[in-house]
Amino acid sequence: MSLIDKLDHNRLPAHIAIIMDGNGRWAKARGLDRGEGHKEGVEAIRRVAEAASRASVQYLTLYAFSTENWRRPSEEVNGLMDLMVYALTRETAALKKNGVRIVCIGNVDRLPGHVRETLQECIHETAGGERLTLVIALSYSSKWELTEAARKISRDVKAGTLREEEINEEILSQYLTTRDLPDPDLLIRTGGEQRISNFLLWQCAYTEFYFTETFWPDFNEEELYKAILNYQKRERRYGMISEQIESDQK
Ligand code: FPP
Repeated sequence: MSLIDKLDHNRLPAHIAIIMDGNGRWAKARGLDRGEGHKEGVEAIRRVAEAASRASVQYLTLYAFSTENWRRPSEEVNGLMDLMVYALTRETAALKKNGVRIVCIGNVDRLPGHVRETLQECIHETAGGERLTLVIALSYSSKWELTEAARKISRDVKAGTLREEEINEEILSQYLTTRDLPDPDLLIRTGGEQRISNFLLWQCAYTEFYFTETFWPDFNEEELYKAILNYQKRERRYGMISEQIESDQK
Protein backbone atom coordinates (compact mmCIF):
# COMPACT_ATOMS: atom_id res chain seq x y z
CA MET A 1 0.00 0.00 0.00
CA SER A 2 1.32 3.45 -0.89
CA LEU A 3 1.35 6.22 1.70
CA ILE A 4 -0.68 8.33 -0.76
CA ASP A 5 -3.75 6.43 0.43
CA LYS A 6 -3.15 7.66 3.97
CA LEU A 7 -3.13 11.37 3.10
CA ASP A 8 -5.94 13.58 4.34
CA HIS A 9 -7.13 15.19 1.13
CA ASN A 10 -8.73 18.07 3.02
CA ARG A 11 -5.39 19.12 4.54
CA LEU A 12 -2.94 18.93 1.68
CA PRO A 13 -0.14 21.50 1.44
CA ALA A 14 -0.94 23.64 -1.62
CA HIS A 15 2.71 24.62 -1.98
CA ILE A 16 5.76 22.49 -1.17
CA ALA A 17 9.27 23.93 -1.47
CA ILE A 18 12.33 21.67 -1.51
CA ILE A 19 16.02 22.27 -0.84
CA MET A 20 17.45 19.37 -2.85
CA ASP A 21 20.68 18.56 -1.03
CA GLY A 22 23.07 15.61 -1.03
CA ASN A 23 23.79 14.97 -4.73
CA GLY A 24 27.55 15.30 -4.22
CA ARG A 25 27.64 13.06 -1.14
CA TRP A 26 25.43 10.49 -2.88
CA ALA A 27 27.96 10.32 -5.72
CA LYS A 28 31.01 10.28 -3.42
CA ALA A 29 29.60 7.36 -1.44
CA ARG A 30 29.56 5.39 -4.72
CA GLY A 31 32.99 6.51 -5.89
CA LEU A 32 31.41 8.58 -8.69
CA ASP A 33 31.88 12.15 -9.91
CA ARG A 34 29.65 14.80 -8.32
CA GLY A 35 28.09 15.28 -11.78
CA GLU A 36 26.68 11.75 -11.60
CA GLY A 37 24.90 12.77 -8.41
CA HIS A 38 23.33 15.75 -10.17
CA LYS A 39 22.19 13.48 -13.04
CA GLU A 40 20.47 11.18 -10.57
CA GLY A 41 19.06 14.33 -8.97
CA VAL A 42 17.21 15.10 -12.20
CA GLU A 43 15.58 11.65 -12.07
CA ALA A 44 14.46 12.41 -8.52
CA ILE A 45 12.92 15.69 -9.72
CA ARG A 46 10.89 13.79 -12.28
CA ARG A 47 9.66 11.24 -9.67
CA VAL A 48 8.80 13.87 -7.09
CA ALA A 49 7.01 16.17 -9.56
CA GLU A 50 4.84 13.24 -10.68
CA ALA A 51 4.15 12.26 -7.08
CA ALA A 52 3.26 15.83 -6.10
CA SER A 53 0.91 16.11 -9.04
CA ARG A 54 -0.72 12.78 -8.14
CA ALA A 55 -1.32 14.07 -4.61
CA SER A 56 -2.94 17.27 -5.98
CA VAL A 57 -0.20 19.57 -4.70
CA GLN A 58 -0.56 22.75 -6.73
CA TYR A 59 2.87 24.36 -6.43
CA LEU A 60 6.27 22.69 -6.12
CA THR A 61 9.31 24.95 -5.78
CA LEU A 62 12.78 23.45 -6.20
CA TYR A 63 16.02 25.15 -5.18
CA ALA A 64 18.08 24.10 -8.22
CA PHE A 65 20.92 26.64 -8.14
CA SER A 66 21.61 29.33 -5.57
CA THR A 67 23.40 32.64 -5.99
CA GLU A 68 26.17 31.10 -3.85
CA ASN A 69 26.45 28.06 -6.18
CA TRP A 70 28.15 30.35 -8.77
CA ARG A 71 31.22 30.04 -6.51
CA ARG A 72 31.56 26.27 -7.13
CA PRO A 73 34.36 25.06 -9.46
CA SER A 74 33.57 26.17 -13.03
CA GLU A 75 33.56 22.57 -14.21
CA GLU A 76 30.70 21.73 -11.85
CA VAL A 77 28.80 24.95 -12.68
CA ASN A 78 29.10 24.26 -16.42
CA GLY A 79 28.03 20.65 -15.89
CA LEU A 80 24.94 21.79 -13.99
CA MET A 81 24.05 24.31 -16.71
CA ASP A 82 24.37 21.62 -19.41
CA LEU A 83 22.27 19.26 -17.32
CA MET A 84 19.53 21.84 -16.97
CA VAL A 85 19.45 22.44 -20.71
CA TYR A 86 19.36 18.67 -21.33
CA ALA A 87 16.60 18.05 -18.74
CA LEU A 88 14.42 20.96 -19.82
CA THR A 89 14.72 20.04 -23.50
CA ARG A 90 14.01 16.37 -22.80
CA GLU A 91 11.03 17.03 -20.51
CA THR A 92 9.18 19.96 -22.11
CA ALA A 93 6.76 17.82 -24.17
CA ALA A 94 5.93 15.55 -21.22
CA LEU A 95 5.47 18.53 -18.89
CA LYS A 96 3.07 20.11 -21.36
CA LYS A 97 1.14 16.85 -21.82
CA ASN A 98 0.78 16.45 -18.05
CA GLY A 99 -0.40 20.01 -17.38
CA VAL A 100 2.79 21.10 -15.62
CA ARG A 101 3.60 24.78 -15.92
CA ILE A 102 7.25 25.79 -15.48
CA VAL A 103 8.02 29.06 -13.72
CA CYS A 104 11.47 30.38 -12.85
CA ILE A 105 12.50 32.61 -9.95
CA GLY A 106 15.99 34.03 -9.68
CA ASN A 107 18.51 36.25 -11.36
CA VAL A 108 18.22 34.76 -14.86
CA ASP A 109 20.35 37.58 -16.30
CA ARG A 110 23.40 35.76 -14.88
CA LEU A 111 22.63 32.55 -16.78
CA PRO A 112 24.53 31.76 -19.99
CA GLY A 113 22.51 32.74 -23.09
CA HIS A 114 21.73 29.20 -24.21
CA VAL A 115 20.40 28.22 -20.76
CA ARG A 116 18.20 31.34 -20.64
CA GLU A 117 16.83 30.59 -24.10
CA THR A 118 16.03 26.94 -23.29
CA LEU A 119 14.36 28.01 -20.09
CA GLN A 120 12.29 30.69 -21.80
CA GLU A 121 11.20 28.21 -24.46
CA CYS A 122 10.09 25.72 -21.77
CA ILE A 123 8.24 28.44 -19.83
CA HIS A 124 6.50 29.55 -23.02
CA GLU A 125 5.58 26.01 -24.12
CA THR A 126 4.17 24.99 -20.74
CA ALA A 127 2.41 28.26 -19.90
CA GLY A 128 -1.06 26.69 -20.25
CA GLY A 129 -0.45 23.97 -17.62
CA GLU A 130 -3.09 23.97 -14.89
CA ARG A 131 -2.36 20.85 -12.87
CA LEU A 132 0.96 21.67 -11.20
CA THR A 133 3.14 24.79 -11.17
CA LEU A 134 6.77 23.70 -10.98
CA VAL A 135 8.84 26.65 -9.82
CA ILE A 136 12.57 26.39 -10.47
CA ALA A 137 14.71 28.63 -8.28
CA LEU A 138 17.72 29.27 -10.46
CA SER A 139 20.49 31.69 -9.59
CA TYR A 140 18.22 32.55 -6.69
CA SER A 141 18.81 33.75 -3.16
CA SER A 142 16.48 35.50 -0.77
CA LYS A 143 18.96 38.26 0.06
CA TRP A 144 19.35 39.01 -3.66
CA GLU A 145 15.55 39.06 -4.07
CA LEU A 146 14.96 41.34 -1.06
CA THR A 147 17.75 43.70 -2.13
CA GLU A 148 16.22 43.93 -5.62
CA ALA A 149 12.81 44.61 -4.05
CA ALA A 150 14.25 47.44 -1.92
CA ARG A 151 15.87 48.94 -5.01
CA LYS A 152 12.64 48.81 -7.05
CA ILE A 153 10.55 50.22 -4.23
CA SER A 154 12.95 53.11 -3.80
CA ARG A 155 12.90 53.74 -7.55
CA ASP A 156 9.06 53.80 -7.59
CA VAL A 157 8.89 56.11 -4.58
CA LYS A 158 11.32 58.48 -6.30
CA ALA A 159 9.29 58.31 -9.52
CA GLY A 160 6.11 59.11 -7.58
CA THR A 161 4.29 55.86 -8.55
CA LEU A 162 4.40 54.60 -4.94
CA ARG A 163 3.94 56.61 -1.75
CA GLU A 164 6.12 55.73 1.26
CA GLU A 165 2.99 55.48 3.49
CA GLU A 166 1.58 52.81 1.16
CA ILE A 167 4.41 50.37 1.79
CA ASN A 168 3.22 47.42 3.84
CA GLU A 169 3.75 43.63 3.84
CA GLU A 170 1.41 43.07 0.91
CA ILE A 171 3.04 45.75 -1.21
CA LEU A 172 6.50 44.41 -0.42
CA SER A 173 5.36 40.90 -1.44
CA GLN A 174 4.38 42.32 -4.80
CA TYR A 175 7.99 43.34 -5.42
CA LEU A 176 9.32 39.80 -4.92
CA THR A 177 9.88 37.23 -7.67
CA THR A 178 7.23 35.08 -5.96
CA ARG A 179 4.51 37.72 -6.32
CA ASP A 180 2.17 35.31 -8.15
CA LEU A 181 2.75 32.35 -5.82
CA PRO A 182 1.24 31.48 -2.45
CA ASP A 183 3.73 31.11 0.43
CA PRO A 184 5.00 27.53 0.89
CA ASP A 185 3.05 25.44 3.42
CA LEU A 186 5.83 22.88 3.75
CA LEU A 187 9.58 23.15 3.19
CA ILE A 188 11.55 19.92 2.82
CA ARG A 189 15.33 19.76 3.00
CA THR A 190 17.06 16.51 2.08
CA GLY A 191 20.67 15.52 2.81
CA GLY A 192 20.75 15.88 6.60
CA GLU A 193 21.55 19.61 7.00
CA GLN A 194 19.08 21.69 8.98
CA ARG A 195 19.35 25.23 7.64
CA ILE A 196 17.52 27.45 5.16
CA SER A 197 20.53 28.54 3.04
CA ASN A 198 19.17 31.88 1.80
CA PHE A 199 15.98 30.31 0.38
CA LEU A 200 12.55 32.03 0.54
CA LEU A 201 13.30 33.78 3.86
CA TRP A 202 10.32 36.15 3.64
CA GLN A 203 7.94 33.56 2.19
CA CYS A 204 8.71 30.89 4.84
CA ALA A 205 7.65 33.04 7.82
CA TYR A 206 4.95 30.47 8.75
CA THR A 207 6.07 27.46 6.72
CA GLU A 208 6.41 24.06 8.38
CA PHE A 209 9.92 22.58 8.01
CA TYR A 210 10.74 18.91 7.42
CA PHE A 211 14.31 17.62 7.40
CA THR A 212 15.42 14.19 6.23
CA GLU A 213 18.80 12.44 6.11
CA THR A 214 17.94 10.98 2.68
CA PHE A 215 20.19 12.31 -0.10
CA TRP A 216 18.23 13.96 -2.91
CA PRO A 217 18.95 11.27 -5.55
CA ASP A 218 17.31 8.70 -3.23
CA PHE A 219 14.25 10.84 -2.49
CA ASN A 220 11.11 9.33 -3.99
CA GLU A 221 7.28 9.26 -3.99
CA GLU A 222 6.96 7.53 -0.63
CA GLU A 223 9.43 9.93 1.00
CA LEU A 224 7.34 12.84 -0.27
CA TYR A 225 4.13 11.33 1.08
CA LYS A 226 5.89 10.65 4.41
CA ALA A 227 6.78 14.35 4.64
CA ILE A 228 3.19 15.35 3.82
CA LEU A 229 1.82 12.95 6.47
CA ASN A 230 4.20 14.47 9.02
CA TYR A 231 2.99 17.96 8.00
CA GLN A 232 -0.62 16.89 8.43
CA LYS A 233 0.01 15.99 12.08
CA ARG A 234 1.06 19.53 12.90
CA GLU A 235 -1.08 22.39 14.08
CA ARG A 236 -0.42 25.67 12.27
CA ARG A 237 -1.16 28.46 14.71
CA TYR A 238 0.24 31.55 12.93
CA GLY A 239 1.05 33.13 16.31
CA MET A 240 -2.40 32.36 17.77
CA ILE A 241 -3.43 29.75 20.38
CA SER A 242 -4.93 26.29 19.78
CA GLU A 243 -8.47 27.28 20.88
CA GLN A 244 -8.58 30.09 18.33
CA ILE A 245 -7.55 27.74 15.52
CA GLU A 246 -10.20 25.20 16.56
CA SER A 247 -12.98 27.81 16.62
CA ASP A 248 -11.87 29.12 13.19
CA GLN A 249 -12.25 25.61 11.79
CA LYS A 250 -15.86 25.24 13.04
C1 FPP B 1 22.64 19.95 -4.07
O1 FPP B 1 23.52 18.90 -3.87
C2 FPP B 1 22.19 20.05 -5.46
C3 FPP B 1 22.40 21.10 -6.31
C4 FPP B 1 23.11 22.30 -5.87
C5 FPP B 1 21.98 21.07 -7.73
C6 FPP B 1 20.62 20.48 -7.98
C7 FPP B 1 20.29 20.65 -9.43
C8 FPP B 1 19.87 19.66 -10.24
C9 FPP B 1 19.65 18.26 -9.78
C10 FPP B 1 19.61 19.96 -11.69
C11 FPP B 1 18.27 20.66 -11.79
C12 FPP B 1 17.70 20.58 -13.14
C13 FPP B 1 16.52 21.16 -13.47
C14 FPP B 1 15.98 20.98 -14.81
C15 FPP B 1 15.76 21.96 -12.49
P1 FPP B 1 25.04 19.21 -3.46
O2 FPP B 1 25.86 19.24 -4.69
O3 FPP B 1 25.08 20.46 -2.63
O4 FPP B 1 25.34 17.94 -2.59
P2 FPP B 1 26.35 17.80 -1.38
O5 FPP B 1 25.83 18.68 -0.28
O6 FPP B 1 26.26 16.36 -1.06
O7 FPP B 1 27.72 18.22 -1.88
